[in-house]
Amino acid sequence: MRELGIVDNAGVLCLEGKIAWVGPMSEWTSRANRMLPPRAQGIEEFDAAGMVVVPGFVDSHTHMMFAGDRAHEFALRSAGATYQDIARQGGGILNTVLHVRSASKKELKRSTLRYMNEMMKQGTTTVEIKTGYGLTLDAEIKMMEAIHELKEEEMMGVVATFIGAHAVPPEFTEDRAAYAELVIGQMIPYIGKRNLAQFCDVFCEQGYFDLDSSRRILEAGKAWGMMPKVHAEELTSLGGAKLAAQVGAASADHLERVDDAGIAAMRDAGVVATLLPGVSFFLNHGYAPARALIDAGVPVAIASDFNPGSCMSFSMPLMMTIACTQMRMSPEEALCAATLNGAAALRLSATCGSIEVGKNADLLVADVPDYTHLAYHFGMNHLVKTIKNGTILEF
Ligand code: NIG
Ligand code: FE
Repeated sequence: MRELGIVDNAGVLCLEGKIAWVGPMSEWTSRANRMLPPRAQGIEEFDAAGMVVVPGFVDSHTHMMFAGDRAHEFALRSAGATYQDIARQGGGILNTVLHVRSASKKELKRSTLRYMNEMMKQGTTTVEIKTGYGLTLDAEIKMMEAIHELKEEEMMGVVATFIGAHAVPPEFTEDRAAYAELVIGQMIPYIGKRNLAQFCDVFCEQGYFDLDSSRRILEAGKAWGMMPKVHAEELTSLGGAKLAAQVGAASADHLERVDDAGIAAMRDAGVVATLLPGVSFFLNHGYAPARALIDAGVPVAIASDFNPGSCMSFSMPLMMTIACTQMRMSPEEALCAATLNGAAALRLSATCGSIEVGKNADLLVADVPDYTHLAYHFGMNHLVKTIKNGTILEF
């Protein structure tokens, strides 16, 4: 994570949406020019002299499809209430669920697309989007289809995750096991049959889903072709990191309260640790042990977790700043975590996350003296261009 492979005075050639060549400009004429089609048409050239080019950010954990907002809860927290206090009073996830249930698929798509466009301006070229604010068969399908349609229709890279096990809805408070059965018996088969989601996630947490039902839900998802992900060890140490290792999850996310045994299990199973610095900052509830994870050899990704409750921001540079100042990650580690390791958390590292020949041409051009400034000079957008699949986005 500390080896960025920086090339000074570099050139990148993108053809048909992919990176066709990258290397020092001193080799450009002899190498890259030979690869251009004979009468190259529509080739755009951009001189980024004095600037920095990095891979597009991969935001591998978001709940960005939602309706309504939770500004009121933000105010309550500023007066001392905790996320759990608010959830116990019927706020939190269930507050957003009420709004999403009454929103149409079209409305959900429209608000999500607005955020997607803004995200691309801030450098995110691939994003994971979760369901989990429907919590009935119909409402989860509505979200799932909306995400799937955005994936098909839009230029931004979208990865769809089903998280019917995000909270137990009010209709099931008296029979929580029955809700897990609904997720396993009806939601997962419906989504699996139609191939609507790449991943299946669960909020493995006290008051949400215990270890046993989390395991059953993730195994059911796997049987229908969805790779597991786990919201693990966020508010309490329940053992979600070990569970992630046991079910072969692509990632375990949050991990504020992961212990040494959980870290060792993740390392041995090759589970990516997706850390969410914005959540710790926004809820002020302590940070995940990034150093212990990295030093143990666990691949660490950082993501925004963008959602109306625990992190109302999708700024990946801000997440990098918090990772550096609060979690003692180096600027190099933060950049790797926001790009290549985010791709790994989505099992996409063969196609995106770094500037390598054959990968998607997802590049950011930043007007900064060097990459450290992306995290160091925080609170402003340094990007002059976002390039997605070789297309230069103007904004
Ligand atoms: O990742 N922890 C569980 N789910 C989200 C919070 C979603 C919400 O509060 O609406 C998270 O932090
Ligand atoms: Fe989350």
